[in-house]
Amino acid sequence: MAREIKRIGVIGAGQMGSGIAHVCALAGYDVVIYDVSVDRLKSSLATIHGNMARQVSSGKIPEAERDASLKRIATSAEVEGLADADLVIEAATENETVKREIFAVLSPILKPEAMLATNTSSLSITRLASASDRPDRFIGIHFMNPVPVMELVEVIRGIATDEDTFAAAKALIARLGKTVVVAEDFPGFIVNRILLPMINEAIYTLHEGVGTVSAIDSAMRLGAHHPMGPLQLADFIGLDTCLSIMQVLYEGLADSKYRPCPLLVKYVEAGWLGRKAGRGFYDYRGETPVPTR
Ligand code: CAA
Repeated sequence: MAREIKRIGVIGAGQMGSGIAHVCALAGYDVVIYDVSVDRLKSSLATIHGNMARQVSSGKIPEAERDASLKRIATSAEVEGLADADLVIEAATENETVKREIFAVLSPILKPEAMLATNTSSLSITRLASASDRPDRFIGIHFMNPVPVMELVEVIRGIATDEDTFAAAKALIARLGKTVVVAEDFPGFIVNRILLPMINEAIYTLHEGVGTVSAIDSAMRLGAHHPMGPLQLADFIGLDTCLSIMQVLYEGLADSKYRPCPLLVKYVEAGWLGRKAGRGFYDYRGETPVPTR
């Protein structure tokens, strides 16, 4: 019998945290989003409003359901706001030091029976779990972006994760209407182990002058039926996140085939982090995106 979850805390009001709060509220859970930035909390609520409005106008959800779901979402700029949660899903920035600090601060605040999950896209679940006081009730629940649209969630157990926590995570994802794929705790799990080297190779293809940004993206959209070209997708994921996943693959698997492309490093150093920064492989500041190379 899986543990009962009624109230879910989400850490981080970025694109992933907002999407996770969105789908949890729609599935009937009470949600509290915690972030240190009040501005980010405000823009997260605006994003959720906007994306639910899209779902109403395309007939995916009735208006009454949207209104009820929005009422189930609270925000908090204090970590104590997570004290009542039965499950906390961490979706902070993809930086191990930051995540470890969060788990250390959070542990004494949580109810003893509460579960902790991380939405990390590549870091070791076992290692992150060891920064909390409850490695047995700690699990990886990895959502895909955009969360309200993508059907898949990866579930990753750490070495200490207990069966009840695993069962509760699978039950939660089923209630969200999404499909679970179970991955072992190795760098990048399944999706990013395969997707990110493809994106990195697209950046090498650009770096070496084999094709332009438009040529590479058109090639993969029209030639391989990908919904977005790899450079467009890199901008969508965030180039900082792409780089950090490549670094985790490179270091964690100790294989030079995962070396991050120097051009990716340069874009991140420039602060051209993709859509969220207004510029990446495309410039998003005008009406339509314009390739930056
Ligand atoms: N919230 C709610 N609905 C959304 C949404 C959002 N954030 N974004 C898009 N939608 C909805 C739209 O309203 C639209 O709905 P209808 O069909 O009912 O009208 C539908 O999704 C399609 O959207 P659009 O028509 O605007 O655009 P599109 O057809 O080009 O699709 C896309 C957009 C779904 C993002 C599509 O381009 C796509 O699937 N891209 C690939 C995304 C992908 O690969 N994601 C995984 C990234 S990897 C990852 O996340 C893991 C990691 O750790 C890095």
